[in-house]
Amino acid sequence: SPSDPDLVERARAAKEKLGEKVFVLGHHYQRDEVIQFADVTGDSFKLAKDAAARPEAEYIVFCGVHFMAESADILTSDDQKVVLPDLAAGCSMADMATAEQVAECWDVLTEAGVAEQVVPVSYMNSSADIKAFTGKHGGTICTSSNAKRALDWAFEQGEKVLFLPDQHLGRNTAVRDMGMSLEDCVLYNPHKPNGGLTAEELRAAKMILWRGHCSVHGRFSLDSVNDVRERIPGVNVLVHPECKHEVVAAADHVGSTEYIINMLEAAPAGSKWAIGTELNLVRRLANRYADQGKEIVFLDKTVCFCSTMNRIDLPHLVWTLESLAEGNLVNRIEVDKETESFAKLALERMLALP
Ligand code: 13P
Ligand code: SF4
Repeated sequence: SPSDPDLVERARAAKEKLGEKVFVLGHHYQRDEVIQFADVTGDSFKLAKDAAARPEAEYIVFCGVHFMAESADILTSDDQKVVLPDLAAGCSMADMATAEQVAECWDVLTEAGVAEQVVPVSYMNSSADIKAFTGKHGGTICTSSNAKRALDWAFEQGEKVLFLPDQHLGRNTAVRDMGMSLEDCVLYNPHKPNGGLTAEELRAAKMILWRGHCSVHGRFSLDSVNDVRERIPGVNVLVHPECKHEVVAAADHVGSTEYIINMLEAAPAGSKWAIGTELNLVRRLANRYADQGKEIVFLDKTVCFCSTMNRIDLPHLVWTLESLAEGNLVNRIEVDKETESFAKLALERMLALP
């Protein structure tokens, strides 16, 4: 069993043996059984910075998903090894934009005569290849906590943004935070010829949104919001910007996982909250604040874990830490030099955002 006291003891012992050599990062969506061994927890922006701030650690064990481990490898020095406890922990959203598809999209934009005006902005939740494409074409990475700042910067560099791969974060930020209209945004579908768009539509658009989404946050609907408001009078609805536009438009507050955590920390006793993000995090917050009289519920009636985040469990963490403690480097995530140099450009532009 994952909470097996024997496994807990083995993880503790292996971590102690490794000492300063290992640094364990845990994304907020990780299981409790894993989070208890994290040296730091955070959203993807905070973890990217935390990984870069630990030059003395030989091993960075990333309890999160593949694109996060790649970003950590890009931002850490060459002799630091980034390890992902289960190589099958990918992200379905990141997989929705491949290097070939994005190269093809750039050809479409070039054909339409708009490529020179376009600045790519890629969500952290993308492969190193996509980050490299972004860096090569003068763009930046963003996360859900700095998407507005990234768009402000991008619109200083050019007239249009190609936003990859999460259409919802792109649309929500453009409309909620940048004062754009839904008509300023077009949706590029990589499975259709020319993205399903005419050259005219591309010329008129300000935001070209890639047709990707998060399957976890995509499950919340306007009905979930209406239902919870009926069930819990006075409830505050707080959702992640990966949710659909209609959900975000109906919510009271919108923000990244780190924002959600801070908001609940500051919430007064007696307040009621319905949260639209991944369930491990919502349950942890509900438990943390239960005795302070803050009522925190999950926004939807059905459960909604991120199945790939959940692949990192205690048995995988124990295996990883014990292997490293025995001098066995397992599950290393290493981005090739060429990709790394361009991806780093894009990530550094993000880290330099005001
Ligand atoms: P943040 O951690 O940036 O809020 O992103 C949420 C997410 O879906 C991570 O995979
Ligand atoms: Fe990807 Fe969504 Fe899971 Fe985050 S929650 S790792 S975006 S599938």
